Amino acid sequence: MSVQGRVQHQSNQQDEGLYFYDFNVQTQDQQQEILNGLKSSPKTISAKYFYDEKGSQLFEAITSLPEYYPTRTEIQLLRQYHEQILQRAGQHCLLIEYGSGASTKIRLLLDALKPKAYVPMDISKDFLFDCAVKLRAQFPWLEIHATCLDYHQGATLPKQLPANFKKVGFFPGSSLGNFTPSESLAFLKSVRSNVGDNGAFLIGVDLVKDSSILNAAYNDEQGVTAAFNLNILNHLNRLGEGNFNCKHFSHYAYFNEQESRIEMHLTSDLDQVVYIFDEHFVFKAGETIITEYSYKFVPQDFETLAMNAGFKVNKMWSDDAEKFALFWLEAAP
Ligand SMILES: C[S@@+](CC[C@H](N)C(=O)[O-])C[C@H]1O[C@@H](n2cnc3c(N)ncnc32)[C@H](O)[C@@H]1O
Repeated sequence: MSVQGRVQHQSNQQDEGLYFYDFNVQTQDQQQEILNGLKSSPKTISAKYFYDEKGSQLFEAITSLPEYYPTRTEIQLLRQYHEQILQRAGQHCLLIEYGSGASTKIRLLLDALKPKAYVPMDISKDFLFDCAVKLRAQFPWLEIHATCLDYHQGATLPKQLPANFKKVGFFPGSSLGNFTPSESLAFLKSVRSNVGDNGAFLIGVDLVKDSSILNAAYNDEQGVTAAFNLNILNHLNRLGEGNFNCKHFSHYAYFNEQESRIEMHLTSDLDQVVYIFDEHFVFKAGETIITEYSYKFVPQDFETLAMNAGFKVNKMWSDDAEKFALFWLEAAP
């Protein structure tokens, strides 16, 4: 791990309350992962490559689209139930957010929870850094330990965190849905190990519902989700000196009822050959690359998954239409 420690501001003054840790997401591993994905059948690109700086900004734009109900609904739940969340977390916990992005949702809880420290973790280094600086300016009392890592490679906590405080994990946005069932279990187990025997986990989960609502949410009229999906190719081009041409691929997303997941694909519009990392890949017209799965959950199934990872469900909060749920999980002995 390279530790940048206290972040130095342009004024040349050190900020005692803002720390930045870089767990050096391995570029060699990335190359192998991307090549393996493109060699598999069907071709795949891991959803984590959506999040270069532009991808992170496009995702923020998606969250306020009229069709995209998850963010609005989850924010409404956080506002409505923040007192109950406070009762469970208590004040002065160590708050750890997995895939923190713009740290938008956590802002709704900070004043109430008054955490001892906040640990935003994200793979998108520059975006994470910029967001941590902005958050610290808005909450000058908040100690922030921004940590750049890939949570699929084990979300190790920095050793420099204040010790002996209750650890509460936070994973909003139903990002768990992007994992395969076995990855979900491994991830929840790693969170369980991070928060320890006294810890808890607040997680947002998108629920199974009418497919017309789901299909609209991933095919917005303004085409922002399409731009977000296609941007993954620009990111790959930069990482592997590739020559993907976004104009020769199209966004395609639908709800696969049998698998209970949204599938997001990029369809090749023509027969073409693409070069990346000095290798070539042949695409037939109509062939697709899978870029994201977003699993939707039935509450009971999620509960079983949580139990298998060493948690017990203490509370579920949901909206009237049961589109989305927030779960408060506690470490099971
Ligand atoms: C859907 S956004 C959620 C942002 C924020 N938590 C929210 O709900 O408003 C997902 C975030 O997870 C980050 N991310 C995606 N894959 C990751 C990985 N493997 N490791 C760490 N962060 C990841 C992305 O960079 C992005 O900022």
